[in-house]
Amino acid sequence: MNSCVVGLQWGDEGKGKVVDILAEQSDIVVRYGGGANAGHTVVIGDSRFALHLLPSGSIRPDIICVIANGVVVDLEVLTNGIKTLAEKDISLDGRLFISENVHVVLDYHKKEDQLREESLGKNKLGTTIRGIGPCYADKVGRSYAVRMADLRDLKALKAKLQTIVEYKNKVFGAVYDAELINADEIFKKCESYADRFLPFIIDTTEYLHKAIANGKSILFEGAQGSLLDLDHGTFPYVTSSNSSSLGMPAGCGVPAKLVDKFIGVVKAYSTRVGAGPFPTEQDNQTGQFIRDKGNEYGTTTGRPRRCGWFDVVAVSYAVTIGAIDSVAMMHLDTLAGLKELKICKAYKIDGQEKTFFPANTDKLSRASAVYETVPGWDEEITEVNDFNDLPANAQHYVCRIEEYIGKPITVIGVGPKRSQTLFR
Ligand code: GDP
Ligand code: IMO
Ligand code: MG
Repeated sequence: MNSCVVGLQWGDEGKGKVVDILAEQSDIVVRYGGGANAGHTVVIGDSRFALHLLPSGSIRPDIICVIANGVVVDLEVLTNGIKTLAEKDISLDGRLFISENVHVVLDYHKKEDQLREESLGKNKLGTTIRGIGPCYADKVGRSYAVRMADLRDLKALKAKLQTIVEYKNKVFGAVYDAELINADEIFKKCESYADRFLPFIIDTTEYLHKAIANGKSILFEGAQGSLLDLDHGTFPYVTSSNSSSLGMPAGCGVPAKLVDKFIGVVKAYSTRVGAGPFPTEQDNQTGQFIRDKGNEYGTTTGRPRRCGWFDVVAVSYAVTIGAIDSVAMMHLDTLAGLKELKICKAYKIDGQEKTFFPANTDKLSRASAVYETVPGWDEEITEVNDFNDLPANAQHYVCRIEEYIGKPITVIGVGPKRSQTLFR
């Protein structure tokens, strides 16, 4: 049985928690896209792990972890991730594999990300400054890309980095009037990465297909959310990869046909970090209530997340393009204490009601939300361990959304811990 977990909103839906839970029944967990812009949280007892590049299955000691070709890897972040787990006596030796085709995020990518955002002023995208856009741009551009396989031939890499850095410095100097970078320093870092990571590098496509042929169970872990998808999200306020489940086959060389189940993750409301249209945003006391109660601050950047009501139009779109089979809804506990809740069931755009999500940013920014209002509940639900023991209004809220999106909500989060999860 192979499954894929993917975010159905703008990221941070709680994918880390869901992947950690499902990993119990898997042999291999695969990250197939994005990079260290991701921040996936797993909470087990009193321990909290924030994973940026390692798959969220890595906390379980016997799971094989794969970073496939579609990911862009910052080896400094990966080194720190491995170190953090080692400090908790979790070793990745012999169970972490990185694709030789993974593109490497280097210092000049992060610098370019930052300089471009700064130069855009109020028009900035609000990226995580993790060098994601510039690294994927180099991948698409081809000539100046560095991949894991390049660490095998350091002499050739040194020459390549000279050419790349010469070009980057022209841009940094002429466009941004910024400090220049030093090719030797970058090469030295790459040299140490080669020492550290060469043993982890394999052909992950071959590895995954052999594992499938041998009946292994694979869990594919999406990063970001479907509405941040480069081609299908709210461009340009998106990330630079196909972060919906459409990116999974290209990101790891396994066709979607071989995945038995696509599981979409949502929050019981909506959040978004960074700029871009957000029709159900509550930039008011309700939004602040959700932010405080749900601890809605970025796992990677610490930025306060923008908060708003659940958006059926947006999630239904993500369900449709992602061929989602079932849904996990996190953070139901966060809504306790709100007198009434709103569910966005349609948009009004230029006087017309629309239920198919317009990813086009111009249209979306003209959309006003059409709501159904449902009663809230007062009781805290973080200790509840059966769906039927939830307050009637909480059950009704879940069932109403289920009706709207037309897919079963089979997993419900009532707190950050692994144990605070209900199954139906
Ligand atoms: P991801 O990027 O999709 O993995 O999500 P993040 O880890 O960035 O953000 C989700 C946040 O919500 C983390 O702090 C989780 O610990 C927390 N979380 C996950 N599920 C629940 C839940 O059901 N209730 C509450 N209160 N917190 C949750
Ligand atoms: P996880 O996997 C939430 C957002 C950024 C910004 C836009 C572009 O934890 O859900 P980038 O650095 O990718 O160029 O930024 O995308 N973004 C995320 N938002 N969760 C994420 O990942 C995100 N990864 C990128 O905030 O708006
Ligand atoms: Mg996150």
